[in-house]
Amino acid sequence: MSTATELKAKLPRLATALPGPNAKKAVERDAQFVSPSYTREYPLVAKAGRGALIEDVDGNVFLDFAAGIAVCSTGHCHPQVVAAIQKQAAELIHMSGTDFYYEGMARLAERLGHIVPGAEAKRVYFGNSGTEAVEAAIKLARYATRREKLIAFYGCFHGRTLGSLSLTASRAAQRKGFGTLLGGVIHIPYPYAYRCPYGHTADTCGSEVIEFLEGEIFERMADPEEIAAIIIEPIQGEGGYVPAPKAFLLELQRVVRKHGILLVVDEVQSGMGRTGKWWASDHAGIQPDILCTAKGIASGMPLSATIARASVMNWKPGAHASTFGGNPVSIAAALATLDVLEGGLIENARRMGEHLFAKMSDWPARFSNVGDVRGKGLMIGVEIVRDQETKEKAPELRNWILHKAFEKGLLVLGAGENTVRLAPPLVIDEDQADFAVRTLEECLTEAAEKH
Ligand SMILES: Cc1ncc(COP(=O)(O)O)c(C=O)c1O
Repeated sequence: MSTATELKAKLPRLATALPGPNAKKAVERDAQFVSPSYTREYPLVAKAGRGALIEDVDGNVFLDFAAGIAVCSTGHCHPQVVAAIQKQAAELIHMSGTDFYYEGMARLAERLGHIVPGAEAKRVYFGNSGTEAVEAAIKLARYATRREKLIAFYGCFHGRTLGSLSLTASRAAQRKGFGTLLGGVIHIPYPYAYRCPYGHTADTCGSEVIEFLEGEIFERMADPEEIAAIIIEPIQGEGGYVPAPKAFLLELQRVVRKHGILLVVDEVQSGMGRTGKWWASDHAGIQPDILCTAKGIASGMPLSATIARASVMNWKPGAHASTFGGNPVSIAAALATLDVLEGGLIENARRMGEHLFAKMSDWPARFSNVGDVRGKGLMIGVEIVRDQETKEKAPELRNWILHKAFEKGLLVLGAGENTVRLAPPLVIDEDQADFAVRTLEECLTEAAEKH
């Protein structure tokens, strides 16, 4: 049990009406000079962060259940990560791993290779962002198999550069206006148990998708011998925090192995311990041929990794590279991040996830606008509906809840059209988890009264 002073130090403290005067000015300047393509939900203007707390430019302190889109895995400015960044920045900031060597790059690659399952040794390609990890996976899959076609899933989000955007099928607005994308990409339904495209339950929804893949796609659309890779998020992130059933992932693995197709697992959002294991796919026990990770890998420094079986990542010098990818400061941050995650944060994510689910799993019975609560560890989605029977989506109500939570000092983001996503830093404790639950319960109660 925390004392009142301890609680005060780790929970939100609002000093002004929101947005405060300084925040208002920053938002106005931003509107004038910054690309309007960003999707800001509410006017948080961040100034400083520590652990799971964010202070804005007016001295308001928020509890952060967004973590910079699931990035700040070790919390904001974890002292071990800050020290590693400061030390490296004072020694060497850039050298380019494309042309030269530095020790950290190989050390991090070795460590990442060991935490991706499978007996075969791994090799790692470093980029700066999730989309670059996916671009590398697309190119590598084509290069390694000499096949061209790719299969992805409805609802998936793999990035916004033109290659990964060709896979992304999350929102039409993300593709609109950008013309013809990469050829050879086929989309199939995702086993979204709450909204099973075949009208089935969580147990059988996945097998229907497998039947569709083998019976329809392989028979009518693309011979499996032409398919380089199937790419999947084991828990869809931007699509609405939707987990794929374990049995489905195992079946998918069986199918790809049968046809020499590579299994690419996109763990950009679900990886780095967020679900209580290193990878969300570890919960199913599958062994990807290629795994993409980014977001939580370096606690906020830009870095991504495409990790593949060594016999798959066997491309020739010049086939793929990046000036900045794997820069020494990001790598130092990642090495420190791995230490901190291994030092107890992955276990904390598992425990806090269970704690949150214990308090939230009865929400559909208690709140008429909650259709589904799902996820793993600290990757939790709450789907907001207008009607539990018809499952009619309630995107405006979801956005209203995000705003209300902000006004109460809790930062949460949306995912998909109508889901509230909980993706806090892995450092949260029970008091912080309970504050988030209480705040969202208040929002849901007010939502039911108002709407
Ligand atoms: C699963 C997944 N893949 C790829 C990306 C793209 O990452 P980035 O925005 O760093 O390019 C994201 C971003 O949200 C993601 O969630």
